Amino acid sequence: LVASLEQVDQTYIMIKPDGVQRGLVGEIISRFERKGFKLTGLKMFQCPAELAEEHYKDLSAKPFYPKLIDYITSGPVVCMAWEGVGVVASARKLIGSTDPLQAEPGTIRGDLAVQTGRNVIHGSDSPENGKREIALWFKEGELCEWTPAQAPWLR
Ligand code: PPS
Repeated sequence: LVASLEQVDQTYIMIKPDGVQRGLVGEIISRFERKGFKLTGLKMFQCPAELAEEHYKDLSAKPFYPKLIDYITSGPVVCMAWEGVGVVASARKLIGSTDPLQAEPGTIRGDLAVQTGRNVIHGSDSPENGKREIALWFKEGELCEWTPAQAPWLR
């Protein structure tokens, strides 16, 4: 039981084009850093439609799917892999509800967004999807395995 509580997971976090255009990249990364998770992947790029379609393939029957693909491919996104114990569920809490009007103040969407179709950020919904999405968005060699330095943190 103790071992499972200590399970280190990975989540895929993506700042969507509206977050980039609105200059929220630093603010958003900062919230994950301050929480104490470990950044293991970070890049910015303009996502091709095929990748967005693969990422959101489970939603392909939804009426909003074409708009969602247009939105995600409308400008550069910031792709991140974050690691830590309980990181998937915790990141979802930091992000807040899908509909920003329902998201609690203090969450990223609760503080920074209004519309579901412009909700600033994506976070994986399970550890399995975290692994799947990181493998989808990052190439081999783009992720960085590292061990945080021990104290003293500042010299
Ligand atoms: S659903 O219908 O319950 O499967 O949808 P949900 O889990 O709430 O959301 C899945 C992703 O679809 C996005 N979404 C939308 N985008 C644009 N317009 C509308 N109306 C819309 N509704 C849901 C939602 O933000 C989720 O994307 P991610 O990137 O995971 O946040």
